Amino acid sequence: MAVAQTWNAAELIAQDRAHLLHPVSNLHAIQRDGALVMVRGEGVYLWDAEGNRYIDAFAGLWNVNIGHARPELADAAAAQFHTLEFAPTFFGMASPPPIELATKLAEIFPDPLNHFQFTSGGAESNETALKIARYYWYLKGQPGKIKILSRRKAYHGIAMGALAATGIPGYHEGFGPEVPGYIHLTPPYQYRHGEGMSEDEFVASLVRELEETIAREGADTIAAMIGEPIQGAGGVVVPPDAYWHAIAPVLRANNILLIFDEVITGFGRTGQLFGMQTYGETPDMVSFAKGITSGYLPLGGVGVSDEIFETLAAPDRMFMHGFTYSGHPVACAVALPNIRIIQDEHLVENAATGGAYLLDRLRALEDRPYIGDVRGKGLMLFVEIVADKQSKALVDAAFNLSGKLTRATRQRGIIVRPVADGVAIAPPLSIQQPDLDVIADVLTDSLTEVMG
Ligand SMILES: Cc1ncc(COP(=O)(O)O)c(C=O)c1O
Repeated sequence: MAVAQTWNAAELIAQDRAHLLHPVSNLHAIQRDGALVMVRGEGVYLWDAEGNRYIDAFAGLWNVNIGHARPELADAAAAQFHTLEFAPTFFGMASPPPIELATKLAEIFPDPLNHFQFTSGGAESNETALKIARYYWYLKGQPGKIKILSRRKAYHGIAMGALAATGIPGYHEGFGPEVPGYIHLTPPYQYRHGEGMSEDEFVASLVRELEETIAREGADTIAAMIGEPIQGAGGVVVPPDAYWHAIAPVLRANNILLIFDEVITGFGRTGQLFGMQTYGETPDMVSFAKGITSGYLPLGGVGVSDEIFETLAAPDRMFMHGFTYSGHPVACAVALPNIRIIQDEHLVENAATGGAYLLDRLRALEDRPYIGDVRGKGLMLFVEIVADKQSKALVDAAFNLSGKLTRATRQRGIIVRPVADGVAIAPPLSIQQPDLDVIADVLTDSLTEVMG
């Protein structure tokens, strides 16, 4: 149902300036330039308060997988609001939507991931997974297994435990002291860390580093390794095909749990329903959020293996972890038609073919002197920009690459995510070729304008 509304853009922007504290934003620049206020969405398009239309080539925050304003989700939310807007999953209670959603997830995740607890987002999901890892070893009689292995360039959210696993320095500066017990390994980022090596040699070097780290720290001190199958916010780091196959057995041999953070890669983005299927490895635990509702309502969760669940369900034990909104009935009720749409409308397949097409188009940029690397899997892609192709030096921060590219792309009608070293692109999985062409054309023209 379209709601006729008129917006006073200037008033909204003034009120935003006065009262809204924006996350992960240059607050000074917002005070100076004003926020970009979106008032409507439909499919892959967004409209701002001044009536300008954009292609949402970042799908909100890589989460609006089915596209904007699908009435099926609005109807599911409304029906649940009218029936039962809230019931907890604490204290042995439940309501139908979280039960039905957990059942659906058990069907679509590979075995043995059959047991699910819900949260309100990605960071809460990772906090949950990391705490379960420690608690699992505690129940197994190994309370010394507490350390967490992660990787540089990882993004696992910014609550304190998840932040400790996050390996991007900008998110840590000024927020110390750090939570202890986290160790960051080299990311599988061949462009910057595997120069001069074959893919196999690079993977072997990462396995060696893992083995040396375990030997140094002691396997009996390490609970788990957490990793995004493909690192997202760190710059869409697509690991070599053999990477997870090589890492997982080392963890298993040392009794270290593997947690996949599928917050971005889950629900179709990589061209498989889950990133773990892209790499053919099933972890002991998985965290997810974003695409499970396509962002229509906040929802995340963690899936655990049968073995972990059976350990948690020991007799005479309370499982003392969860959030008020774990299994919120309306959020779970919205997830179900969202997953149905992803499956029935073959959006996973569209992410694979559309992503391959866009990657191909963007690779045409590679011979430009300032393009370092173009990479992606499915509909998560990254164009890495350098000051110098030989040295791979970053563009000087004073040049304000991300600010300039943000302006150039928005002026041409697309929303992407420019960062200090490139541009991330992740449109809704429903996007079709004409709009993929617009994204490629606009990026090409914007790069010409900004980089010359
Ligand atoms: C891989 C990954 N994990 C966790 C998070 C954190 O999710 P949230 O912002 O919902 O806490 C994000 C957010 O972008 C993410 O990309």
